[in-house]
Amino acid sequence: SRLDVDPDAYDAGDHESFMHKEMSEQPTTARRVLSGRLDERFGTGHLGGLNLDPRDLRAIRRVKILGCGSAFYVGQMGATLLEELARVPADAEAASEFRYRNPIIEPETLYVAVSQSGETIDTLLAVQEIRRKGGRVIGLVNVVGSAIAREVDGGIYLHAGPEVAVASTKALTNMFLAFAMLAIQLGRVRDLSIADGRRLIAALNALPEQIEQVLATEDALAETARRLAGAESLFFVGRVRGYPVAREGAQKFKEISYRHAEAYQTSELKHGPLALVSPEVPTVAIVPDDELVERNVGALHEIDARGGPLVVVTHENVSVGDLDCERIVVPKSERELDPILLTIPLQLLAYHAALELGHDIDKPRNLAKSVTVE
Ligand code: AGP
Repeated sequence: SRLDVDPDAYDAGDHESFMHKEMSEQPTTARRVLSGRLDERFGTGHLGGLNLDPRDLRAIRRVKILGCGSAFYVGQMGATLLEELARVPADAEAASEFRYRNPIIEPETLYVAVSQSGETIDTLLAVQEIRRKGGRVIGLVNVVGSAIAREVDGGIYLHAGPEVAVASTKALTNMFLAFAMLAIQLGRVRDLSIADGRRLIAALNALPEQIEQVLATEDALAETARRLAGAESLFFVGRVRGYPVAREGAQKFKEISYRHAEAYQTSELKHGPLALVSPEVPTVAIVPDDELVERNVGALHEIDARGGPLVVVTHENVSVGDLDCERIVVPKSERELDPILLTIPLQLLAYHAALELGHDIDKPRNLAKSVTVE
């Protein structure tokens, strides 16, 4: 499309692709999106561009998040953050579907449009439909001055810098961080305590270095990825906070490796997909150290018993017992913020699988960086 990023205009430097460069930039870009937006004294977010004062924030009864593809999946992570931290009902929906069902626009709902490019036509048209019906929309947008950025009532710029690779990485990470700051700020005008606000801010500030630690495990992840690249079909599974992580992992994997990768809630496996589990179909399972850990590990035993190869993305403290699996361990954050650290290794798995298969990493077949036509 006319707005496709021209890779020739940028320089991947020492990296073999833009995607690799952009993944490696994440500690820096994460610091940038947080910079100047956290108020440690009052344990809250300081998001000037929202154009919402504390009274407006208190009046919000519901949050509706709209985005496409990976932006939609991060939107699901954002919805969970908002419900957990601000105790406001929140959900995410594919912007490409939203306006086709004559959506009910409510004055006390805050609408959030999420987009790296700010030019995705489905997201833009959803924003216009909401505003036409008198709804209030904020944007989580990377490209400054883009169509969505111009159309919204306020928002949070993602400050991830130019993203060239079709497979989005650093912009998604910053979307998650922007949602976290929004959830803290919204929480702090409601029931989130100052202590909890400070606890989460300390954890946010620690994330860039933790992302660096995950990136440092690239060689081991590359080896796992090479094994996964041999499979025609894979499952990615997770629950609650881990489910959008699984969806995003499957999305990235299919975009650049062209393998069939399907995401499921771990809890839903026994309601159908378990029939497909076999030694030929590996599962990548997201198993954070949280209140669901025992149930998660239990479900993985069902996969193991059917000979399904398992890669478990997890935390140091999680014991998988005698489960036959490969473990990928990421640093622990506060549990609400864990999803972002669990997502980073999935980028590297997709990347190295695609590299192994000899695909064009930055320009996968059939896809454009921004989809500007319906
Ligand atoms: C991400 O890896 C994909 N290329 C795609 O799903 C993307 O996130 C989606 O098209 C939305 O793009 P946007 O963030 O520019 O609106």
